[in-house]
Amino acid sequence: MDEYQASESRYADAMRYNRCGKSGVLLPAISLGLWHNFGDNTPFEVSQAIARTAFDLGITHFDLANNYGPEPGAAERFMGKMLRTDFKPHRDELFISTKAAYDMWPGPYGSWASRKHLTASLDQSLQRMGLDYVDLFYCHRYDPETPLEETLQTLVDIVRSGKALYIGLSRWPLEAARFGFEYLRRHDTPCLIYQGRLNLFDQAPKTEGILAECKANGVGFIGFSPLAQGLLTDRYLNGIPEDSRIARDGRFLHADMLTPERLQQIRDLNDMAASRGESLASMALAWVLQQEGVTSVIVGASSPDQLRRNLACLNSSPLRPGDITI
Ligand SMILES: NC(=O)c1ccc[n+]([C@@H]2O[C@H](COP(=O)([O-])OP(=O)(O)OC[C@H]3O[C@@H](n4cnc5c(N)ncnc54)[C@H](OP(=O)(O)O)[C@@H]3O)[C@@H](O)[C@H]2O)c1
Repeated sequence: MDEYQASESRYADAMRYNRCGKSGVLLPAISLGLWHNFGDNTPFEVSQAIARTAFDLGITHFDLANNYGPEPGAAERFMGKMLRTDFKPHRDELFISTKAAYDMWPGPYGSWASRKHLTASLDQSLQRMGLDYVDLFYCHRYDPETPLEETLQTLVDIVRSGKALYIGLSRWPLEAARFGFEYLRRHDTPCLIYQGRLNLFDQAPKTEGILAECKANGVGFIGFSPLAQGLLTDRYLNGIPEDSRIARDGRFLHADMLTPERLQQIRDLNDMAASRGESLASMALAWVLQQEGVTSVIVGASSPDQLRRNLACLNSSPLRPGDITI
């Protein structure tokens, strides 16, 4: 592909940067996730076009995990290639996260949150991306079998080793997260951010208290799957398009999740968005961003155009209580 020249107006245009909790870090309101569309089943040029567009739009934060693919590791290899080529002059403009704790390699050390798994997995991630350090390393899930102190001390040691600048927790239940925030603070490695699913159909971080807990601890919050993997867009209003996530993948978003009741909710939400003069995707993203304590949303995209259109949420007018009913 042609040589990439980053847009000169990437910081002058649309993007907003929010302080992450009480840290020194600013994150773009919209971050890009590489869970889907950056693996071996997507042509490199397609993934590259999405990543280039993101950076040109001021998206500085790219969210990865050891297992993003397919095959697991492929998304990090993609990022490694970008960092050797298009993004080579821009490493210090990028905030790159990765994670460990889901199944990655066979045997007893290939997943969960032991010192053994987290340390080895981060080394593998760094190798795949050709990096000396990541900006943010997450424990991807709570491990009920490993002592929390072992996991948390490993995260502290990882920061001390210089292999990650900051630590994050993802999908930890409230009590464990509270313990973790306290432990990390006492060990001079404050938790930078909590990553949880937050969208109009899944408001658990709000109703179950994790958002408030983050705020109380000066920890940022980043919401994943803000579009409910595409359900909160116009994608499925008229059936299941062949190029959609449901049709192409189906592992995490199944056709049977699109029940008649769900479809009706999507139609109603789409009408509400239209009456506000915006797309459903834009309204859905704006809703997440307007929740108290939210630093950023991590969107997925299968094309540069989706990403571009989704930035409209930054100009969405404030939603008042009662504006959206589900
Ligand atoms: N911590 C965790 O455990 C965890 C779990 C899940 C995700 N994540 C993170 O969150 C990121 C985002 O997750 P996600 O991909 O589920 O996010 P999402 O933003 O809810 O869904 C993205 C998908 O929605 C569709 N879409 C996006 N914009 C659209 C538009 N304007 N019109 C129509 N369709 C549109 C596309 O699917 P099509 O293929 O149909 O076009 C796109 O791939 C991941 O990449 C990952 O970094 C973290």
